[in-house]
Amino acid sequence: MSAQAVTIALSGAGGQIGYAALFRLASGDLLGPKTPIHLRLLEIPQGVSAAEGTALELTDCAFPLLQSVTIDTDPNVVFEGANIAFLVGARPRTAGMERSDLLSANGGIFGPQGRALNDHAADDIRVIVVGNPANTNALIAQRNAPDVPAERFTALTRLDHNRAVGILAAEADVPVDSVSGITIWGNHSITQYPDLSHAIVAGSPALDMVDPRWARGAYIERVAKRGGEIIEARGSSSAASAANAAIDHMRDWVTGTRPHEWTSVALPSDGSYGVPNGLISSFPARSVNGQWEIVQGLTIDQFSRERIDASVTELLDEREAVNALGLIPS
Ligand code: NAD
Ligand code: LMR
Repeated sequence: MSAQAVTIALSGAGGQIGYAALFRLASGDLLGPKTPIHLRLLEIPQGVSAAEGTALELTDCAFPLLQSVTIDTDPNVVFEGANIAFLVGARPRTAGMERSDLLSANGGIFGPQGRALNDHAADDIRVIVVGNPANTNALIAQRNAPDVPAERFTALTRLDHNRAVGILAAEADVPVDSVSGITIWGNHSITQYPDLSHAIVAGSPALDMVDPRWARGAYIERVAKRGGEIIEARGSSSAASAANAAIDHMRDWVTGTRPHEWTSVALPSDGSYGVPNGLISSFPARSVNGQWEIVQGLTIDQFSRERIDASVTELLDEREAVNALGLIPS
């Protein structure tokens, strides 16, 4: 018997990540082979034609689970009844653009989208922000959606987490599924802290399995700058791996993380690990009964403390900047 249909909204549907995500969503990669899906695609006018092309191809795949695909430029229409929202479309930084211009332009996107989610989404809405600067865009959306529980707004650091797993597994020469206990802390930016203090590789502490100087030096830089490495190699930012990570994040949120394991999620802080309340920062997290829970009780040594604090300081600066621009209601 089929489950109840789920409405999935995705903004930036005509872009690269949209193209890499939509076919997987429609084929059941997110919610399994029994859950019918309605896709609601949000674009700006310039992106509508590309989204229409994607919609034609979705039809041509004849996915049994796909009940409908609609496209609109109005978030109030697209988010009507949405159970899940992937906020991918964002204003990229262009030459000569100041950081405040970028935050302001994105505030103009994520403020109205937050309000539209507040007014139109289903009661069980879950939101993941992918568009950069992802943590602060999520904060803007969340603060503009006062009727939606704050914890329903998250941002993508699962891509950083997956990168951290893949790069560690390659260094230790083990399969990826023998790596666990990695945490990405902080912002989805080069200040992020990929932390191997509690990581396990093939049953042993990661810091015994690889050179600890590499783990606390070149490794951190490699993971944190992987997005830039990909832009340089591909000529555009990561798309398939970003879509894959966003789907991993949402699937784990809905269906639960594997027993005794955790992943990395940017979510509103409850003050854990000294991260100021409300800041959308990346933590070690498990999904239990459909809700993210921050993993508690990890020891944080001086090296980790300094790196977590540095990334959190960047997030506080971003919050102050969007506050000063009037993008988050007090
Ligand atoms: P893209 O340029 O290929 O596509 C973006 C799409 O968003 C375009 O079709 C554009 O028309 C649309 N768009 C812009 N403003 C919009 C709005 N207000 N409403 C709806 N749609 C809008 O970019 P992409 O490669 O798909 O990347 C999208 C975003 O994801 C970028 O901000 C990128 O930096 C970010 N990203 C984040 C991560 C992460 O790990 N958090 C990883 C990769 C990329
Ligand atoms: C990534 O981590 O791949 C992206 O956030 C890079 C970018 O700037 O789009």
